[in-house]
Amino acid sequence: MNVSPLLASRALCAGYGDFQALFGVDFEISPGEVVALIGANGAGKSTLLKTLTGLVPLRSGSVSFAGIDVSKTPAHALVAHGLAMVPEGRRLFRGMSVEDNLRVAADHARPVAANARPWTLERLYDLFPVLAERRRQAVETLSGGQQQMVAIGRALMTQPKLLLCDEISLGLAPKVILEIYEMLPVIRQAGTAILLVEQDVTLASRSSDRFYCMLEGRITLTARSADVTREQITQAYFGVKHEVG
Ligand SMILES: Nc1ncnc2c1ncn2[C@@H]1O[C@H](COP(=O)(O)OP(=O)(O)O)[C@@H](O)[C@H]1O
Ligand SMILES: [Mg+2]
Repeated sequence: MNVSPLLASRALCAGYGDFQALFGVDFEISPGEVVALIGANGAGKSTLLKTLTGLVPLRSGSVSFAGIDVSKTPAHALVAHGLAMVPEGRRLFRGMSVEDNLRVAADHARPVAANARPWTLERLYDLFPVLAERRRQAVETLSGGQQQMVAIGRALMTQPKLLLCDEISLGLAPKVILEIYEMLPVIRQAGTAILLVEQDVTLASRSSDRFYCMLEGRITLTARSADVTREQITQAYFGVKHEVG
């Protein structure tokens, strides 16, 4: 049985000015799938996420999401089609309360009948009880982990079909990282596919069905997470060492 992908890129190239950051990236994720994207700093992971969501323009190749040509659709309109990102560094609305951060997102949500919405404030507060306690507090008074929960919650309030998470564990204590990662299966059960950019290779493969590894703007490995060996990952992550002579 072949499910057509929710999001797919073909031969994607992109960059900044004279600098080309991505070279011929073929990527896809199916409805309800959890896919991890790993790679060293500077490999192009964030650029790929931004290109997939229309924030960085395509130079060549194609990206389609839920049958829509991403290069022809403004980034904000993609949100209304169900494409949400938890960006690097969270980018919360400072000076606004937890609840207002969540409510603003709901204004831009994919249109879903009120009684069929997977994500509501109540549901989020069930998932992250600490946010319910702090709903009236300005977001910048929260801990890093709590702010990350707000960033994830804000993305979920747009009722996404696909949630892209850019290094959500960065700078957080191990216990908090586990708390956040424990929520991913719950999010997937609500029918949302997840693309995780993660530096921690063990956490990435444990939390995903499949993963991709990037090196210097290219995909160097794609595999089912359960099947891959540590050696394959190391080679893809650091590059294959060619024997001399
Ligand atoms: N706004 C930008 N302008 C110019 N170069 C950039 C910009 N953002 C990222 N880059 C460059 O693109 C490459 C990929 O960066 P990035 O996608 O952030 O990698 P990663 O997320 O894997 O760490 C790096 O060489 C980085 O320096
Ligand atoms: Mg990055």
